Amino acid sequence: MKRYAHIIGWGKYVPSKVLTNDDLAGMVDTSGEWIRTRTGIVERRIAAPKETTATMAARAARDALQVADIDPFSLDLIIVATATPDHLFPATACLVQDALGAWRAAAFDLSAGCSGFIYALGLASHLIAANAYQSVLVIGAETLSRITDWGDRSTCVLFGDGAGAVVLQASDVPGGVVSTVLGADGSGAELLIQPAGGSRLPASNQTVAEGLHYIHMNGPEIFRFAVRVMDKATREAIEKAALTLEDINLLIPHQANNRIIQTAARSLRLPQEKVFVNLDRYGNTSAASIPIALCEAIEGGRVKRGDHLVLVGFGAGLTWAATVVNWAVPLPMPPVSRWRMALRWLRYRGAAIESFLRRWWRRLEAIVKVPFKSK
Ligand code: ACO
Repeated sequence: MKRYAHIIGWGKYVPSKVLTNDDLAGMVDTSGEWIRTRTGIVERRIAAPKETTATMAARAARDALQVADIDPFSLDLIIVATATPDHLFPATACLVQDALGAWRAAAFDLSAGCSGFIYALGLASHLIAANAYQSVLVIGAETLSRITDWGDRSTCVLFGDGAGAVVLQASDVPGGVVSTVLGADGSGAELLIQPAGGSRLPASNQTVAEGLHYIHMNGPEIFRFAVRVMDKATREAIEKAALTLEDINLLIPHQANNRIIQTAARSLRLPQEKVFVNLDRYGNTSAASIPIALCEAIEGGRVKRGDHLVLVGFGAGLTWAATVVNWAVPLPMPPVSRWRMALRWLRYRGAAIESFLRRWWRRLEAIVKVPFKSK
């Protein structure tokens, strides 16, 4: 029997600290008006010192699991799409797995810039269709404020922090993620790059002094690339789903710049009411932007059962991605009972205790085990 991958849960988390355009005008040579008219951004959220990509991802994931009303223990796989992981290794997805107590789940990070969430969604839906997994948690999460040069007006006005998550589940009901188009062009790698901190240019006093651990971007080139691929990827994903542009009820684009979104919408001949925009409040949250926007579109009543949604993004790599989702889950979802909520709350407390015990058990094992001796 054919298997379909449906989004059955969604959640988002954004930090409480708001950084407005006027705040930025006090930090660099810019104005609120310039930022608003050139990008559409009015404010963005900035992570508190103790917040990280993993903590925000876990918050979004809990909300998604709550909506899906499933236990973290039933997850088979967790994918975190991010360009700002907590560490280069271990994967942020492993930290999220630990925070949720999703002990059965495999976990890994996916790096595809702002296209990362759709890359992860496409991969997860194919794994479900191939009968490899039943339930997959897909997260896009970023703490871009940690790699932003707050003295560079050409980049610092653009980015923000946050996380969005969805639960994908196998079903024999037709619909869900019906087509995915992924693309990359590594010849444009240097157009959007964090030059230092990897194996090519390991972090050193010099790389830090030269600001090479920050985001470096050629804005106008990315702009031209974005407009081109948003149109192309959207059309390809729609064609692959055997649909036409007229069948599309809502386009949820990567929230990078409102001028990019409007130019793409015009070339696709999509009216304003079919395009979802929330970047005025969050700026560009990279891999988190599309799942956060999806969440807000659902919560704002912009998605109905039977709708065809297109999610489309572009980003560092260069990469691009688009997917068509045929929404088959009834909305609004029935409310989750209080005892189920309480049970899940207990599970998260239990996960913290279990994680603690696992660490201690490893230490104990190291102490009591007969040490290995080489001859
Ligand atoms: N405030 C005031 N002036 C500014 C600012 C600012 N914050 N930033 C740049 N300027 C100035 C420039 O110095 C330049 O001045 P000059 O003409 O005297 O040299 C002028 O504004 C025009 O600069 P441009 O770079 O041509 O401005 P543009 O209209 O292209 O807008 C922007 C710049 C907003 C960065 C735009 O190019 C853009 O949005 N590009 C796409 C960026 C993007 O989407 N990046 C994310 C990719 S996804 C991911 O993976 C993270």
